[in-house]
Amino acid sequence: MLLIEKQITLLYFSALNGQIVQFKLSDIGEGITEVTVKDWYVKEGDTVSQFDSICEVQSDKASVTITSRYDGIVRKLYYNVDDIALVGKPLVDIETDVLKDVAPEEDIVETPAISQEHTHQEIKGHKTLATPAVRRLAMENNIKLSEVVGSGRDGRILKEDILNFLAKQTGAILPPSPQMEIIPPPPKKDISTPSLKEKAPTIPVTFTKPIAFSGKDVTEPLKGFHKAMVKTMTAALKIPHFGYCDEVDMTTLVRLREDLKPVAESRGVRLSFMPFFLKAASLGLLQYPILNASLDENCQNITYKAAHNIGIAMDTQQGLIVPNVKNIQVRSIFEIAAELNRLQSLGSTGQLGATDLTGGTFTLSNIGSIGGTYAKPVIMPPEVAIGAVGKLQAVPRFDSRGQVVKAQIINISWSADHRIIDGATMSRFSNLWKFYLENPSSMLLDLK
Ligand code: COA
Repeated sequence: MLLIEKQITLLYFSALNGQIVQFKLSDIGEGITEVTVKDWYVKEGDTVSQFDSICEVQSDKASVTITSRYDGIVRKLYYNVDDIALVGKPLVDIETDVLKDVAPEEDIVETPAISQEHTHQEIKGHKTLATPAVRRLAMENNIKLSEVVGSGRDGRILKEDILNFLAKQTGAILPPSPQMEIIPPPPKKDISTPSLKEKAPTIPVTFTKPIAFSGKDVTEPLKGFHKAMVKTMTAALKIPHFGYCDEVDMTTLVRLREDLKPVAESRGVRLSFMPFFLKAASLGLLQYPILNASLDENCQNITYKAAHNIGIAMDTQQGLIVPNVKNIQVRSIFEIAAELNRLQSLGSTGQLGATDLTGGTFTLSNIGSIGGTYAKPVIMPPEVAIGAVGKLQAVPRFDSRGQVVKAQIINISWSADHRIIDGATMSRFSNLWKFYLENPSSMLLDLK
């Protein structure tokens, strides 16, 4: 009798646990119809809880973490990494743990038995904050993020939290973790002047993933940010570009940054030249607001933008992205540097969200951090101007007394929408930008 009862209970359980919930990728907004699956945080057979991360998808605008809405077992993944997932189509099947999901007073019999469709997704930053690397570490160690208490900003789960969680489970002792989450700076690029003693030239490092040599042509679909680039650059082709170049003597600024860099570092922020370029541009835009404007599609109206949301072309493993630092007109150089650090940190792990990637009003591209002197930057519509900074180089120049001196020079290449911006305006703006950088103390007068 007892045996029969047990069998009935087992049957009852398996019938309840047999419900397959089909997750469809729901609308992410902004007209996005497809995304690239960047990473799975689960595999078939894994047990998941509500709000556990399922996967990371990448649209041409942002990274989004898809999270589970149910407790259950993952039964099917519909895509491989790098596949294109379509909005409205199934993403995963989950066999739900109905006993947990259904409230006691709910009538279980009335619950649809199979193929329920549910979607649940979370824009990065709302729930279980963690980088993909941390999520992977958790997954590899069968740790549910929902069980880990994040010690980072806004409850972000850090690598240390996972390691501490693991240590508690295994009894291992870990070194004490820092109290504050300091965003690690991206790996430094060596920009020191090559010494004469250096013999063997080093091969420049590239981010681009090499395609394995197979002796055959390789065709692959354009995805993610590359797709966005096609759209933006095709639109940019309609704009008649006016180009203007100059050189800037950075000798004083190079010294100033040397003084300020350790100060910023002691406050947890890495200070490159970029924040100075950005602030000088913003101060220039206050005088020449037409460069921080947009033109409507029919070329009937100009909108002068109040905010200086300056985009920064960023070279990442996912490709070129252009996040922007918002409201530079009211930020200090230190605040700009801190924000740039945050954008770089997120950009390097493909975690930038839509807010960071949209709303730009003007762009600067520091291609010189990779190399080169002059460039021909392409405007990012609906913006009307962009600047490309070349590599900082120590070169001989004449001083005011006609003496040859060692000068630290960068080159700047501007492109402006010639339908509304004339050469004289571009030149005057560039002169002002150059003046601020060559005389950095003059920026103090105009800082808010
Ligand atoms: N010339 C020489 N050195 C430069 C430089 C330049 N133009 N720009 C930056 N550096 C130095 C920095 O000062 C820093 O030195 P440090 O270690 O002494 O502080 C080092 O190079 C690394 O700087 P980086 O990490 O690149 O920071 P950044 O704030 O200067 O630049 C980005 C940030 C995002 C702009 C940059 O990393 C990047 O991605 N550049 C490529 C942009 C691109 O691809 N443009 C083309 C678009 S089509």
